[in-house]
Amino acid sequence: MQRLGTIDIFPPAENFVYMDAASVGLTHKGAAAAINRWQQALADEGTIAFDEQDEVECLDNLNDAAARLFNAQTRDIATASSETVLMSSLAWAVMPPKGTNIVATETTHPSTVYPWMRVAEATGAQMRWARADNLYVDPDHLESLIDDSTSVVCLSHVEYGTGQTYDLARFAAKAHKHGAICVVDATQSAGQVPIDVAKTGIDAAAASTYKWLCGPFGTGIMYVAPALQKLNPGIVGWRSHKDMWDFQADRLELPDTAKRYEFGTMAYGTAYGATEAMNYLLKHSIEKIHTHNREISDRLMSGLQALGAEVLSPKNAAERSATIAARFPGKNSRDFARTLKENNVIASLRRDFIRFSPHLYNNADDIDRGLASIKAAL
Ligand SMILES: Cc1ncc(COP(=O)(O)O)c(C=O)c1O
Repeated sequence: MQRLGTIDIFPPAENFVYMDAASVGLTHKGAAAAINRWQQALADEGTIAFDEQDEVECLDNLNDAAARLFNAQTRDIATASSETVLMSSLAWAVMPPKGTNIVATETTHPSTVYPWMRVAEATGAQMRWARADNLYVDPDHLESLIDDSTSVVCLSHVEYGTGQTYDLARFAAKAHKHGAICVVDATQSAGQVPIDVAKTGIDAAAASTYKWLCGPFGTGIMYVAPALQKLNPGIVGWRSHKDMWDFQADRLELPDTAKRYEFGTMAYGTAYGATEAMNYLLKHSIEKIHTHNREISDRLMSGLQALGAEVLSPKNAAERSATIAARFPGKNSRDFARTLKENNVIASLRRDFIRFSPHLYNNADDIDRGLASIKAAL
């Protein structure tokens, strides 16, 4: 198993056993360069280097790449500064009413669900939580919570902690059967697991770009299905208008596309960086990255089990990703994560477990070096 993302593109992969994409992925070298170039040109020449047309095109180009990532049309994509911002705007647009409920898992990331909780607080809608057993959510239990009073099923495609992966087609179909929508946080899946909005039928998917997409902080992308392109976004600003250069403040005509969820300026250089990184991943194909990541994470999982670790992530192929959560009997996870870091094995402490998340720039040798360090530390 060679590296799929080579060290000329991801130089730190040579120096560390970097298994932390679920926290922050290594940044594509060309993406970092694109951001720096934009920032320097802006500092040197202001609007000479970055004019009004550029201000439109930099997001349009990212939306083109995101459309390919999600198997959507460009008109169905919006960009803003993060997943949280886009999800918040969507939640206020949907505004689940009193008498309905929002189904979510208790293991989800706060940013997946806080926006919905905030809106529910205002409207009187209820949260309905799928409970986890030792961090595992039984999909049958999750499905059983969806009924005619459900308005939104809000899932993280891949759970941030354990990497548990949900069958989006199943939950979108169940939501639709009951007149609800299925909204997905794809921050932990985009770039490592294929996402096909057309095939799965999900209604929205939002992701930040600094994890598995190997891009920067400061950019988020969102797919919204045509029906959601008729709603009134929760966040609006000058970019929300059909012709953003019109600048007439006494009326707002929203675009007829997902672009109505774009609303203001952002650190535009990040959009250049995110586009560069995403196009690189798409050139490899997400399917190929998924296969590569499956092989290295299989090796990691069996190695951890052989060392006596308690692996908290699902073991079956359909329900897992490259994110592997583990506890080490007799070891305090916080101290243990620190010890691993001192040995150049980079993973994250999450709650009371350690989360390993190798990606396309890791190879089998990395996994073996990581396992050897763990063995020595045990
Ligand atoms: C599933 C998920 N959603 C969202 C976020 C963070 O969102 P944002 O980039 O908007 O702060 C994370 C970060 O860990 C995450 O794991």
